[in-house]
Amino acid sequence: MEIIHVSAECYPVAKAGGLGDVVGALPKYQCKAGHIAKVVMPMYRTKFLYENEWTVDFKGHANLGNWFFDFTIIKEKNNKLGFDLFLVDINGLLDRQKIYGYDDDAERFTAFQIAILNWMNNWEHQPDIVHCHDHHTGLLPFMMKYCYDFGRLQQVPTVFTIHNGQYQGWMGWDKSRYIPRWDLWKRGMLDWADTINPLASAVKCASKITTVSWSYLDELRYNANGLEKLFDYERGKCMGILNGIDNEVWDPATDKYLEHHFTVKTVAAGKQKNKELLCERFGLDKDKPLFVFIGRLVGEKAADVLPEAIMSAIGNSQGQACFLVLGSGETQVEWQFQQMIDPYRGLFNAVIGYDEALSHLMYAGADFLLMPSRVEPCGLNQMYAMRYGTVPVVRSTGGLKDTVVDMGDKDGFGIRFNNATSGDIEYSIGRGIAVYKDKAQLEKMWKQMMQIDHSWESVVDAYIAVYESLR
Ligand code: ADP
Ligand code: GLC
Repeated sequence: MEIIHVSAECYPVAKAGGLGDVVGALPKYQCKAGHIAKVVMPMYRTKFLYENEWTVDFKGHANLGNWFFDFTIIKEKNNKLGFDLFLVDINGLLDRQKIYGYDDDAERFTAFQIAILNWMNNWEHQPDIVHCHDHHTGLLPFMMKYCYDFGRLQQVPTVFTIHNGQYQGWMGWDKSRYIPRWDLWKRGMLDWADTINPLASAVKCASKITTVSWSYLDELRYNANGLEKLFDYERGKCMGILNGIDNEVWDPATDKYLEHHFTVKTVAAGKQKNKELLCERFGLDKDKPLFVFIGRLVGEKAADVLPEAIMSAIGNSQGQACFLVLGSGETQVEWQFQQMIDPYRGLFNAVIGYDEALSHLMYAGADFLLMPSRVEPCGLNQMYAMRYGTVPVVRSTGGLKDTVVDMGDKDGFGIRFNNATSGDIEYSIGRGIAVYKDKAQLEKMWKQMMQIDHSWESVVDAYIAVYESLR
């Protein structure tokens, strides 16, 4: 089958979070399973672009409202990622260093999608599936069905995967002029609450919707940033498929970012060596349990409650545990963490920013990973942590609920709590401190979690079955 993945992120080309990891891995494993999976994404000005070789695949032009633009689609020459990778270049819109966060994101991603459809419309054949990821690609199913210019693509089935339903790409109706000539009777397929809502439009127009865990799909019917009724209504065409992880990238035995490798047999010594490196670098006590947080410092991740939770855990346990935070996001939260570094020196440190290499060392060297997320569609951090023998401490929500079994339950290996409050987090940290002293229990938990199979190999078939059902 020929599957075209369209996404704003793809690791290692450009990644802001888990979406990048998924789109960098799923196509690779689909190719390994004998399919032809390809990825199309914007040509940002990232390191990967300059360090690799490219050929020009297509040159075209299109309109975004009254603005006429040229675009070029280039293809990576050497199949470096294990699948064909295409980048869409639009000068003035996509030639930026960052992925998101610009005032003209609506224009950038709409033009990106229009360019892709112009390109595919010119092919001699049609792909078997167009697989879109998140709202930046949410107008594709609508445009394929209802724009007169793309009639050749009308019958191509589309799958839309929701990695994050909180962001929906809202734009005012004045921007409807950007969409190439379309059937005006179909206005309702773009609209939600009087705005153009690309995520809602994709839910209405795509042939099939998937979310990245089973529990998240359930939750969307009650908590979907305004789209609850839509998810309830469309539940018949929605299904949950839990993400996998790329075991070639995330393997403590071979991880290219680690100096000290380990396996399930050598986990105790291996983790200790990585922990020593971390503790030395960040001035922490290597003999105390180390709790880390890695991620975007935003409300969804409940990063705002962490400063208080960490401070009271340090206070009430009389400094029995150490903490290290890596992330960036809301200015207020970044500032709070920075303010904590001095008063809690020796027990707490924080790195504000994005650091791929450090994140790997943290998964390897930490004892516990904190994820108090208010919303977590899947969560990859906890799966990486599990593979590296780091006990996940998570709120019972979405994918966290589907992947972490509390240590109090049969075959459990993690710590789960119900509320994203300082009290629940502090209590769970206390459970962590207690189990850290019980080496026999900890070893049992390592064995349990490190051997769980979350490989993409085990997930690929579920996606293929979805595609097959649409042919
Ligand atoms: P989300 O996509 O919602 O941010 P996920 O758990 O799915 O959450 O994936 C997050 C990914 O981004 C993981 O690979 C994690 O290691 C990585 N990550 C998040 N923040 C940082 C950071 N500051 N530095 C390095 N890696 C990060
Ligand atoms: C999103 C979600 C996260 C998920 C990731 C990959 O960013 O917030 O939970 O793991 O996408 O699907």
